[in-house]
Amino acid sequence: MDNIAEEIAKLRRERKAVVLAHNYCRGEVQDIADFTGDSLELARRAAGVDADVIVFCGVYFMAETAAILNPGKTVLVPDETAGCPMADMITAEQLRALKAQHPGAAAVCYVNSTAEVKAECDICVTSGNAERVMKMFPKDREIIFVPDQHLGSHIAGLLGTEYVLWPGYCPTHARLTAKNIEDARAAHPGAQVMVHPECRKDVRDAADERLSTGGMCAFARTSAAKEFIVGTEEGILHRLRGENPEKTFWSAAELRCPNMKKATLEKVRDCLRDMSPQVTVPQEIAVRAKRAIDAMLAI
Ligand code: 13P
Ligand code: SF4
Repeated sequence: MDNIAEEIAKLRRERKAVVLAHNYCRGEVQDIADFTGDSLELARRAAGVDADVIVFCGVYFMAETAAILNPGKTVLVPDETAGCPMADMITAEQLRALKAQHPGAAAVCYVNSTAEVKAECDICVTSGNAERVMKMFPKDREIIFVPDQHLGSHIAGLLGTEYVLWPGYCPTHARLTAKNIEDARAAHPGAQVMVHPECRKDVRDAADERLSTGGMCAFARTSAAKEFIVGTEEGILHRLRGENPEKTFWSAAELRCPNMKKATLEKVRDCLRDMSPQVTVPQEIAVRAKRAIDAMLAI
């Protein structure tokens, strides 16, 4: 492990590379990353990167976003099969058909979407900024929100409105049930329960806080509570425990996103050594998708 970390450090210097990692990545990958964060923090970081090469440890749409924001840079992924099943639940063609059924509606996509879908949208959102971004739309504007029905209904509920939703969902968060929350509360009375907005409504309702992964890190840091039940992918526990050694974190259930675990130290080293696999987005798609991402980052 130490040898691989050293090899990565050497290659990183030679390639003038930065390693970005999502909060769900394996602990050892988070530990060697230059920056670990949620989708919004990673998109912001990718937009301002001062390096020739970005190694993106996470899932494919995140690396695509980094490539779109950095046309002159090389974006590498440790494993190009690390997709997000939710992002693949809607195609650009399906979104175009939905837009045709709702002429005049604004099209908003969760950042967990392909570049082709982003290219069809007016703006994108992450779980960390969705409420802030969606507040900008006038109440009477019809809005199509894809692909996550749960984040969409969560934000619509907060803002007292309704969106045209697409039935997409995260298979990992879909496994969390309200009974899991009830059982975890019974086992750890007094713990604060935080869940991701990708969870179903009954699960969100059973929690104390509904937060992006970055929001969970901030909440755990600032809350007076000493114990937390965490309803999201288990990789975040590494960061929560590392940043808050005096606090205790319990998983609400076993939630593992297999794609987020595909980036290993060996694959990080190999992609830096081989400068492959590289993530590229066709120029015509990238230009249109960038408009939706820039609109979000401007808020
Ligand atoms: P965050 O933006 O909250 O990190 O979420 C990303 C994700 O894929 C959740 O499943
Ligand atoms: Fe996609 Fe769910 Fe994995 Fe997040 S946890 S990357 S939404 S499949």
